[in-house]
Amino acid sequence: MFYQTTEAHEALRAKIREFAETEVKPVAFLLDQENRFPTEAVRKLGELGLMGIPYEKKYGGAELDTLSYAIAVEELARVDGGTGVILSAHTSLGTYPIYAFGTEEQKMKYLPDLCTGRKIGAFGLTEPNAGSDAGGTETTAVDMGDHWLLNGEKIFITNGGEADTYVVFAVTTPDIGTRGISAFIVERGWEGFAFGDHYDKMGIRSSATCQLLFNNVKVPKENLLGKEGQGFKIAMATLDGGRIGIAAQALGIAQGAFEAAVEYSKERVQFGRPICQQQAIAFKIADMATKLRAARLLVYSAADLKQDHAPYGMESAMAKQYASDIALEVTNDALQIFGGNGYLKGMEVERFYRDAKITTIYEGTNEIQRVVIASHILGKAGK
Ligand code: CAA
Repeated sequence: MFYQTTEAHEALRAKIREFAETEVKPVAFLLDQENRFPTEAVRKLGELGLMGIPYEKKYGGAELDTLSYAIAVEELARVDGGTGVILSAHTSLGTYPIYAFGTEEQKMKYLPDLCTGRKIGAFGLTEPNAGSDAGGTETTAVDMGDHWLLNGEKIFITNGGEADTYVVFAVTTPDIGTRGISAFIVERGWEGFAFGDHYDKMGIRSSATCQLLFNNVKVPKENLLGKEGQGFKIAMATLDGGRIGIAAQALGIAQGAFEAAVEYSKERVQFGRPICQQQAIAFKIADMATKLRAARLLVYSAADLKQDHAPYGMESAMAKQYASDIALEVTNDALQIFGGNGYLKGMEVERFYRDAKITTIYEGTNEIQRVVIASHILGKAGK
């Protein structure tokens, strides 16, 4: 057991680890090579009750805590970073805003399919001119009386093209900044809603990422999520929680690389003994383990704060920033321990190294995480 995990947490970890080892790990290389979404594994995650871990049973969820969800993402990412983020984006970004801000009618309509994995969720915030500056949203939704008319483009959308339900942010009142942005639930297949570029990425290649195109999409009035003008706050609050998922993903990727490197260091013999007996390698392993432990404490404590309904925005930003920074360091050290062998395609560490990089970029770059952390500490004095 670790930190505040219970026997139930560790039993869940063992169950997901077994699933990840048997269902994901054997195909991870192929998924990466072929840029292929793990449709079958995701379907099974739904059957195992893992697509709605923190949500109430009445909506089809497992009604477990946030830490259980973080452990699930961590364990999937330990074998495949892409599969980890599929679960994270679905749970934290696609499902959470409906759960937290939806009307009871919206929840009953959308959550049972999402929480059981019959449908996949996604989150449409980022645009060509609205990345770190999410308030720069240019997609528009015009009130046409009996519906909203949605026009614009979203980029880099995780689960895009595979998801059925999209929470999309659009300007409903121009020229008043973030208070003019609203959130909408948009369904795949609606007229005028198309998928554009499917990105060919450096890492997390088993996760689908694409462009969303909205051309005069009629969004029913009842699909406004929250109040008109509340969209930016919904996006920010959603990202507070989403960052716990990305932190857990980074942690899992780093853990997978670490374990592979430790095993290799025991087997690889140079200068007449296993390289783990060379202090240069043993110290590297010690540093990697320390970083992993520190990151895990940050991730799990942020999850606990969220679970306890305590403020957690600063802690989730810290967890995301630290876990992703050390994921880069740990995967780099792991590859270094493997030497030339780790540099070859088909080696897990090579994939972990590529998968780790995105965790410092999405759901807010690590520079933006520092903006968030500093603003919590400094408040108005920092502006
Ligand atoms: N919760 C609720 N409300 C919040 C909030 C939060 N965490 N953070 C800010 N707000 C509110 C503020 O209180 C303020 O409200 P008022 O208008 O009532 O005063 C309003 O939102 C505007 O806040 P700011 O002035 O701080 O906004 P800003 O324009 O300066 O932006 C930012 C702040 C932190 C830089 C924000 O733009 C941001 O988080 N950028 C990064 C975006 C991001 O993370 N994108 C990731 C896309 S999703 C993704 O990557 C998914 C994936 O692939 C897996």
